[in-house]
Amino acid sequence: MQRVRCIAVIGGSAATLPQDFVASDACMHATAWGEPSAPVHIGRLHGVPALYLARHGEPHAIAPHRINYRANLRALADLGASDVVALNTVGGIAGAAAPGTLWLPDQLIDYTWGREGSYHDGALLPLDHIEFTEPFDGGMRESLRVAADGAGVVAHARGVYGCTQGPRLETAAEIERLRRDGCDLVGMTAMPEAALARELGLRYAMLAMVVNRAAGCSAEPITMAGIRAQSARCLAQAFAVLERLAALAAAG
Ligand code: HPA
Repeated sequence: MQRVRCIAVIGGSAATLPQDFVASDACMHATAWGEPSAPVHIGRLHGVPALYLARHGEPHAIAPHRINYRANLRALADLGASDVVALNTVGGIAGAAAPGTLWLPDQLIDYTWGREGSYHDGALLPLDHIEFTEPFDGGMRESLRVAADGAGVVAHARGVYGCTQGPRLETAAEIERLRRDGCDLVGMTAMPEAALARELGLRYAMLAMVVNRAAGCSAEPITMAGIRAQSARCLAQAFAVLERLAALAAAG
């Protein structure tokens, strides 16, 4: 396992602070790119320095396309993050992506538009082009896989995440297109988050939680009640993985 100095958790829809997170402070850390979605909670997870940030704000109110991803990632880096675990609720496209399952995607396709997606856009920092062949950190994905195994949680070891603009859910035809493109999962928030983490040199991986079958993939309608029920179930498993990840980091 790579040496973890500080684990930052970015919580998505339905996420809350991990149960074992021992908070010592919360800080609204302003950056040159503005303020993050919410105060960053500073503390420890199994003795390991840890940060927690609610991606959609506290309370949950910021739509995916309005999140200040640059401020969020910059704030976490400024406060010492070395490793970032992104918790993302997603719709399942692949047959195996049933509601209640957890995934560690290894690839993504970006369908979003109009989001501020780089620090190096020539405004505050000079233009640069990051290497992004593998959008998620391989070492972090492996650490999460080992942690999931240790926690007795099944997490699919790879998959392709399609990032849509939201905040509405997709049409059946849009999901059919994503399926043809090779997407297994669909969500709204991995981009530009993953690319910004790479620009900052953070080890970033996603623990995706399938909370519904994507549009047109099931005869059942997608309801917020169904999504909420699956989110609670997935989150309990995701927290078990996070706690194991921190325990392994503390032991290593
Ligand atoms: N589509 C996009 N984002 C999502 C979905 C979905 O079906 N479910 C949870 N996040």
